[in-house]
Amino acid sequence: MSHERASWGSKLGLILASAGSAVGLGNLWRFPYVAGQNGGGSFLLLYLICTFTIGITLVFAEAALGVKTKSDPAGAFGKIHPRLKFIGVLGVLTSAVIVPYYSVVGGWIVAYIVKSFSVSEIQNFESHFTEFSADPVEPVAYFAVYLLTTAAVVYMGIEKGIEKYCKIIMPGLFVLLLALMVRVLTLDNAWQGVKFFFTPDFSKITAATMLNAMGQVFFSVSVGMGIYITYASYVKNDDISVGQTMGRVIFLDTLVSMLTGLTIFPAVFAFGMQMNAGPALTFITLPKIFAAIPFGTFFGLVFFVILFGAALTSSISLMEVVTTFLCDQVKMTRKRAVAAYTALCLVTGTLVSLSFGRLSGFKIGGKILFDQFDFLASNILMPAGGFLTAVAIGWVLGADKLTVSQNRYVQKSFEFCLKWICPAGVLAIMLNALGMI
Ligand code: PFF
Repeated sequence: MSHERASWGSKLGLILASAGSAVGLGNLWRFPYVAGQNGGGSFLLLYLICTFTIGITLVFAEAALGVKTKSDPAGAFGKIHPRLKFIGVLGVLTSAVIVPYYSVVGGWIVAYIVKSFSVSEIQNFESHFTEFSADPVEPVAYFAVYLLTTAAVVYMGIEKGIEKYCKIIMPGLFVLLLALMVRVLTLDNAWQGVKFFFTPDFSKITAATMLNAMGQVFFSVSVGMGIYITYASYVKNDDISVGQTMGRVIFLDTLVSMLTGLTIFPAVFAFGMQMNAGPALTFITLPKIFAAIPFGTFFGLVFFVILFGAALTSSISLMEVVTTFLCDQVKMTRKRAVAAYTALCLVTGTLVSLSFGRLSGFKIGGKILFDQFDFLASNILMPAGGFLTAVAIGWVLGADKLTVSQNRYVQKSFEFCLKWICPAGVLAIMLNALGMI
């Protein structure tokens, strides 16, 4: 497998594939609802601080390690020290937790694409979503469609397709998001949403909000599970500037989240909705916006198709991690690896989908299965992977063994952040949230 992917050759291939992984449901669905539940402006502040300290540093570190070792995550950490191979394996586990529930949300998008033709019949978008997601059959079927689409792409190999595909998806997403934002901002009361998004309320900053902001950063930039190690290992040209290349990915990812915030929050205020609607937020606000604009059905359809594409490039990257691992380490054929993993996801994802309806009474620590999976992946496994990555690269290998920029200031800041800020920051936030400090 490494043969074909080794040939992206150009910097652009790495940027597009990485941006494809980073930009997804994390920006357009998860970011607004988590920000809404965690105080808006204060969450944004924590999110930005975390992105431009811990997030960016770990992305640089992963990508630089990939360029240097030209290995999959387990192999790359194994090259630092054989005992560190497990850090790569942890990424596989994380991916196995994310794919099922990510695909449940992916299924909702497929459903919205199909249903957008009958959108004019929907009277109440809130109850429509609640009833739909609680149904025991419909969302499960759409989830299966989404999962099988992801599996089909991974099965066929995404190497050639992903570049071309992202070139269309990304600009399309950007243009539509901008157009929607402009429309929403001209609605009555919209500015209250802008205020909510930009005004920090320091009383809302708690240990839990900090953990949620950090979890969102890990999830959104796809860091802490070796995706960038894998993608960057396929760059032929060793003299690429990791800093410049991956800096663009972070910039793009943050920009999409900001644009989403500036679309969803004003809409929430304009339509007099609840800020803490949770996972339903985007799925209720967006149809409302579309219902309020001329040719809304058409734009809604295009938007959800683009959202589907953006989500797919992310779930592909997630499934690719597990597939590569099963092929390389367990010596399965690609065909079998994809089939086995998809079968597992079908079972777990079905349970996750049912947690909005039939299984909603089954809670662990007050959270339904969907929230449990999300919490485990974003707030525990990915930060743990990030912490171990920082220690392995920063201390065992030595941060100065990796070059991320020719600019001395950037390079030195990277080394300092990797050795000190990342491990200490992640640990402090996690222990704080557990009530241990
Ligand atoms: N970053 C993706 C998103 O924002 O939707 C989700 C994701 C992809 C998380 C890949 C983790 C990952 F490894």
